[in-house]
Amino acid sequence: MIAALLAAFHYLALAIGLPAIFSRGRALKGTLDPAGIRRVLAADAWWGIAALLWILTGPGRVFGPFEKGADFYLGSKLFWIKLSLFGLIVGMEILPMVTLIGWRRRLARGETPDTSSARRLAAASHAQMALVVVMIFVASFMARGFGR
Ligand code: HEM
Repeated sequence: MIAALLAAFHYLALAIGLPAIFSRGRALKGTLDPAGIRRVLAADAWWGIAALLWILTGPGRVFGPFEKGADFYLGSKLFWIKLSLFGLIVGMEILPMVTLIGWRRRLARGETPDTSSARRLAAASHAQMALVVVMIFVASFMARGFGR
């Protein structure tokens, strides 16, 4: 039962995360009027929820008694590739996260955010989206024992 729930929330993270990061990138390239900024921040919030679900379910699936056991994953080259790709996505998220927190703070003070870095954040979002797609393939091969 727990194994099924962990897997379900892990897939749900993907169903939320991929469209969210795609929408964030696209909104950042669009017109950044108040409505455009709201689109960026809404997509960013969903991307955050997906990241939280991946972080809450992933380790449980590796180390818990629910899947193939920690030895299987820790002994899988593809698992380490997957985790490295995830680390890259998280590392690339630092600038967008700090910048968009700044946007939210300025909006809360009734000020207009400085959107001059939007293009750079859009490029980072698109690169993160590509990495998520690569992770889907790595995960599927990892789950079937490739790379051990
Ligand atoms: C962007 C983040 C992530 C994506 C897109 C992702 C994607 C996936 C996908 C598509 C599967 C299903 C593979 C299949 O059954 O064919 C899967 C399974 C799995 N993922 Fe993730 N994952 C992510 C993050 C993580 C993290 C952070 C961890 C661990 C720390 C993790 C650990 C696992 C484990 C243990 C499985 C089960 C594999 C099996 O069935 O043996 N994932 N992941």
